[in-house]
Amino acid sequence: MRAIVYSQTGDPDVLRLVDRPVPEPGPGEVRVAVRVSGVNPTDWKARRGARPGERPPFAEMVPNQDGAGIIDGVGEGVDSALAGQRVWICEAAWQRAEGSAQEYIVLPARQAVPLPDAASFDLGASLGIPALTAHRCLTVSDEGPRSLAPGALAGRTVLVAGGAGAVGHAAIQLARWAGAQVVATISTQRKAELARAAGADRAVDYRRRHAVDEIRALAPEGVDLIVEVAPAANADLDAGVLAENGTVAAYATDGGGELTVSVRGLMYRNIRYQFVLVYTVPVEAKKIAVADVSAALADGRSPSAKKPDCPYTASRSSKPLMRMQPSKPGPSGRCWWTSRRLLDVKKNVEPVALSSASPSDFSPWRPVSWWSFLPALRARRCCQLRRSTGGRHPGFH
Ligand SMILES: NC(=O)c1ccc[n+]([C@@H]2O[C@H](COP(=O)([O-])OP(=O)(O)OC[C@H]3O[C@@H](n4cnc5c(N)ncnc54)[C@H](OP(=O)(O)O)[C@@H]3O)[C@@H](O)[C@H]2O)c1
Repeated sequence: MRAIVYSQTGDPDVLRLVDRPVPEPGPGEVRVAVRVSGVNPTDWKARRGARPGERPPFAEMVPNQDGAGIIDGVGEGVDSALAGQRVWICEAAWQRAEGSAQEYIVLPARQAVPLPDAASFDLGASLGIPALTAHRCLTVSDEGPRSLAPGALAGRTVLVAGGAGAVGHAAIQLARWAGAQVVATISTQRKAELARAAGADRAVDYRRRHAVDEIRALAPEGVDLIVEVAPAANADLDAGVLAENGTVAAYATDGGGELTVSVRGLMYRNIRYQFVLVYTVPVEAKKIAVADVSAALADGRSPSAKKPDCPYTASRSSKPLMRMQPSKPGPSGRCWWTSRRLLDVKKNVEPVALSSASPSDFSPWRPVSWWSFLPALRARRCCQLRRSTGGRHPGFH
């Protein structure tokens, strides 16, 4: 079988295509025939390493945490009826050498989650890191909820910073599914459209001088929860819009890793800062997240669903590669999923194409034929690669 690997950290040219034996599942494991592999920032940050010359954690690493495919083998102690089950994969490469950028992956059965027939593999490979991170962010407030379902966030206002990002997009969809009013911040009109397509009630340009006033006009009592991608850069904005007892769920260091806050200002209003790393979320909370994301997925696909917004609907396109397609619209016409950053292992990793490709074509951020991206974001993704290799994103997350 074919696999993408790297044995040293660095730019995308450390990635190699190799041939490996098809792995056998061990006790408690399943083997998944990978159809689509998803790429997240965590994957390229790990490949790049935190500092020049850093060794990868294993002698040979297969990248990518997320993916989707079909179970085609089970190990001892696993129900053989699972063979043939379509699944989405999560945290495949966390503390393991085996990510999803290979034709077959063996992993613990609990990390292969059933994917409804109606949901595409593209969609399945878009869920893991973004959706589980978003779920954690939406469930860490002091008063809960710990689990999401329709109505669970009714009466709450959620601010999603960076609503056009992958995690932001998932947060908007899950928050709307759970009944929250959702305000998203964005930086361009195009991103505002993406955030609204995901279900955001309003999109506000966070760079505008009056962003706080605009958000306050929408939520006069303040927002209850902020899903925050850039806690340092947005510290003043967040402090300006939070309601009493509000929570900032901070999951990234975009815009800076040192956070300065007014202790007195936040203390008086009982503000909570909760930091989130998807990998180390408590086991029980992660189980709930997987169940809730699956429920949202099933809900979005249900033909009888009459929700005003149906999250996690799959693309209707039959093409195997990533795209952003309107899915079956609900009454609001807002049932979209931004399926992106996907690698179709089966169809696109052709040795013949690779042998004639230059090493840099292995970059997941370049528009070569076998990596696929949301076309509208392709240019930005290429820029991000350049920025990342320029050291603008120190650290793993
Ligand atoms: N802690 C965890 O478990 C975890 C999990 C997943 C991802 N992450 C990290 O989270 C970050 C985002 O991941 P992603 O996959 O969602 O990336 P992404 O798709 O590139 O989205 C990043 C978003 O952040 C927005 N953004 C940047 N600075 C902002 C600011 N000051 N205010 C508001 N929005 C801002 C960007 O919008 P503009 O371009 O308009 O600024 C963009 O929409 C990455 O650093 C990733 O490593 C962490």
